[in-house]
Amino acid sequence: MDQAALALLKESLKQPLTCIGILTSGGDAPGMNAAIRSVTRAAIHHGLRVKGVRYGYRGLYEGNRPGATEEEKNIVELKAGSVGDIVHRGGTMLHSARLPEFKNPDIRTQAAYNALKEGIQALVVLGGDGSFFGAHLLASEHGIPVIGIPCTIDNDLRYSDVTIGFDTAVNTAVNAINELRDTMNSHDRISIVEVMGRNCGDIAIQAGVAAGAEAILVPEVKKSDEAWINHIVTKLEMSRRRNKRYGIIVVAEGCTRHSQTPSEVQKAVGETLRLIDRGADGAVVRERLVQVLADLKINEFTPDSIAQDLKKRMPDIDARGTVLGHTQRGGSPSASDRILASRLGLMAVEQLLNGCRAHAVGIKGGQLICRPIPEAIAVKRRRLSQREMIRLAEILAM
Ligand code: ADP
Ligand code: F6P
Repeated sequence: MDQAALALLKESLKQPLTCIGILTSGGDAPGMNAAIRSVTRAAIHHGLRVKGVRYGYRGLYEGNRPGATEEEKNIVELKAGSVGDIVHRGGTMLHSARLPEFKNPDIRTQAAYNALKEGIQALVVLGGDGSFFGAHLLASEHGIPVIGIPCTIDNDLRYSDVTIGFDTAVNTAVNAINELRDTMNSHDRISIVEVMGRNCGDIAIQAGVAAGAEAILVPEVKKSDEAWINHIVTKLEMSRRRNKRYGIIVVAEGCTRHSQTPSEVQKAVGETLRLIDRGADGAVVRERLVQVLADLKINEFTPDSIAQDLKKRMPDIDARGTVLGHTQRGGSPSASDRILASRLGLMAVEQLLNGCRAHAVGIKGGQLICRPIPEAIAVKRRRLSQREMIRLAEILAM
């Protein structure tokens, strides 16, 4: 990296804003396209040029290879027409990526260099808290103004009442559960449905309430696996008393991802390797390996394992596990997500023009807000609405 060239490029940051960049980072979310369209057209409305960065921070880090065609370029000019016919489309026309190496300051310096070389004087980042943190570092280390727009189906950015993509993901989950409900009803079965959300139970709670689930398992409610099974059994027995023969149990993925911590697995494997190093007998090593695998199995808590546990407790039931997975990330964004994305896109551009340097836009109590990124991502307390919803779900499932 030529530091003198970088310093020279940074001179552009002292000039009035004429060109902004936009990228989508981390897991995609329905509504990202609507936000790209809004940022691009709002910027053009205010007389700015817009550069779209493909593949998130990876595209920024790799920059444009000399001689690359328009299709091959990572950083391209966006015009009003470039973002036509996307407001209703899921995914992101700029593509997304995860670049763990962005935690390395040298990688960020290269990314800053490439951005400035392309004339980008400020950056709008669409993503979750990880993407926001990367943006904040670009601003603090290189003086590039950044604005984050909260786009993640997980709804885990708590400074904002809601994130773009969440509403669509909940609707996708509800539609899938409705379909499961039909067949579960026909066969008197119990459906254990796992939904996404990383460590946040919001998709599970909202989809569970909207779909009339018997029980909703979320990581925010701390219960052992056994206690969760007891809870489900209690709820199923209640519904049986009123002759309901089928049921829906919604599980947030944050509840099913705790089989064994990486350090526990490492320790168990390490002990086995030490046995081999010490020249232990093959049968002893085999026995140890079988034990390691058995321990992994014992700690498994998945829709299928929950179904099996339920069968042990209620032998006459037929339970099936389903993981909805990435279906929840796709699909045409709901009107609500499109509107929020459009509003926040305009606000992001206008906040940059107002001189914001490392902020995140969002919505609180119906009002658009703009907060410093460190403050926004530090908000960890659960939303009041989540507690209300958990209580509601508890009361309605009887
Ligand atoms: P999200 O933005 O949805 O939270 P990730 O946590 O996967 O998704 O983060 C997306 C990208 O943001 C990462 O692949 C990485 O490029 C960047 N990023 C995440 N955390 C950091 C960090 N601590 N420092 C710098 N960049 C980060
Ligand atoms: O953050 C969005 C999300 O879909 C989470 O709900 C899920 O845990 C994760 O991303 C899945 O990530 P990947 O795209 O790597 O499968």
